[in-house]
Amino acid sequence: MGCKTVLLWLMIVGARAAVQRDSNADPGPMELPGDLLIGAGVAAIQVEGAWNEDGKSESNLDYLFHLGKLSSMGVTDPHAHDVAADSYHKYKEDISLAAALKVYRFSLSWPRILPNATASQPNPKGVQFYHDVIDEVLLHGMIPMVTVYHFDHPRVLEDNFKGWWSPEMIPLFKEYARFVFNEYGKKVKHWTTINEPNILCTYFANLHVISGLYTAEEVSNHYQCQVGLTILNLPATPNSTAPEDVYAAEAVNSLYAGTIYGPVVFGDYPQIAKDFAGEKLAPFSDAEKELLRDSTDYIGVNVYNGMKAAWRKPTAAERENADLLLGKTMEDLPNVAVDIPNPLGPQSVEFFEGIHPEYLRTAVLWVWQTYKKPLIITENGFGDVTGHGTKDQLRAAYHSVSLRTLVSTINSFGVKVISYCAWSLIDAFEWTGGMDRPFGLVYIDYKNKTLSRTLKESSEFWINLGETRMVPLIRPEYSSSSTTLKPIACLLLIRIVFNFIE
Ligand SMILES: *[C@@H]1O[C@H](CO)[C@@H](O)[C@H](O)[C@H]1NC(C)=O
Ligand SMILES: *[C@@H]1O[C@H](CO)[C@@H](O)[C@H](O)[C@H]1NC(C)=O
Ligand SMILES: *[C@@H]1O[C@H](CO)[C@@H](O)[C@H](O)[C@H]1NC(C)=O
Repeated sequence: MGCKTVLLWLMIVGARAAVQRDSNADPGPMELPGDLLIGAGVAAIQVEGAWNEDGKSESNLDYLFHLGKLSSMGVTDPHAHDVAADSYHKYKEDISLAAALKVYRFSLSWPRILPNATASQPNPKGVQFYHDVIDEVLLHGMIPMVTVYHFDHPRVLEDNFKGWWSPEMIPLFKEYARFVFNEYGKKVKHWTTINEPNILCTYFANLHVISGLYTAEEVSNHYQCQVGLTILNLPATPNSTAPEDVYAAEAVNSLYAGTIYGPVVFGDYPQIAKDFAGEKLAPFSDAEKELLRDSTDYIGVNVYNGMKAAWRKPTAAERENADLLLGKTMEDLPNVAVDIPNPLGPQSVEFFEGIHPEYLRTAVLWVWQTYKKPLIITENGFGDVTGHGTKDQLRAAYHSVSLRTLVSTINSFGVKVISYCAWSLIDAFEWTGGMDRPFGLVYIDYKNKTLSRTLKESSEFWINLGETRMVPLIRPEYSSSSTTLKPIACLLLIRIVFNFIE
């Protein structure tokens, strides 16, 4: 497999920023399109806890965090995720708090369902747990949107062959995916195979086959499900109208996003990606191309940020900065410089508290115009670096301008968007940000360890939205104190290189 760097970028950072308003010029409320489903998401490793309960085996990430070697990356408590928000025991409360929304997006824990990584030995309690979760979601009249894989796999796969470094991962992932589709497919109509494969590996190459196999042959036809995958988008726009900058932006988007989306829509990588990456993109056989073509029912888009691209040689510092976010992609674009806030330095404040609806718009337009497939915005959200707690007016403003921008983009271009899911439903374990980078619509009291749940002030926005389907314009109010706050020197998307374990 062509995985040069298998890595997991960990989310962190944040702060505030300028708001670009386009759809937000007219301050009147905007109506959501009739069929747009609004929801919020979580992922198993980030909220469930119960890391070794009821037959769950150790995951790659349990093992990695427990080593306690990531403190330089900000993971000061190697056991923070052991309990996390304890959603394994509190899922009913979480789901009831989400009931104003239509969609509950969550991921399955592979080591909870198949602790020994074989479908011949499922863990009955783990299997039942997700039936209970799904039933609870359905009971509230909500739609479960299930991610099969969101970064955690049984550790044994790491020990045996280093996980995604090895092609041996593919049949085992397929076995797991087949198992869960068969188990839950009657109840779950929206599936995401893999969350952010472009974070796992610079060029996810052969693994596209997974998505192809399950969509066409087994899932869509059998259960009438919608199946796709989702990737992290950092959409690039040209830094100027000069054709070379336009080309630079297209090259970045094609390598970072197109190498994943292209195969599952067109059966192959975009030509521009092949031109730049050369043999790093292992060619697909004709049979694979056939299998891959049109194998996704929708395109999943996680989007928090974006960048400007210019056709010029980057400085060493710019390269380093870009590598932090884009991994090895930029190695193949030696003549492209990108302008992107540095998640480590003073610009970290721009990152997850920045209100940049233009990035969502750019990602949606690029994906729609390139692929003409329905979209699901699987993640878009606001992480408080500066600690707003339950008083999160900025979060309501963030989602207000995001949704208004989305609606105007849908209306202007006829984009088909199935769903918009905020990240995240509840405050979660945010990797190297620990519990100090909360994205939740629901506050979790990690401080006094009760893990009590409280709706944040922004929940009023969601509740009204659920009732009226109208999106009011909420302008961000930056308090004077937050403008003088020093940026927190924490990492944004920190890569955890899996061979760090070795
Ligand atoms: C996983 O393998 C271990 C060791 O062989 C075994 O004790 C355990 O029962 C297996 N788990 C399941 C769910 O079958
Ligand atoms: C984009 O253009 C501005 C203004 O000319 C310049 O300051 C900036 O460095 C450019 N960005 C890149 C990535 O070249
Ligand atoms: C601690 O948790 C309890 C729930 O048991 C909650 O009511 C209370 O507000 C929390 N205390 C603080 C200081 O947040």
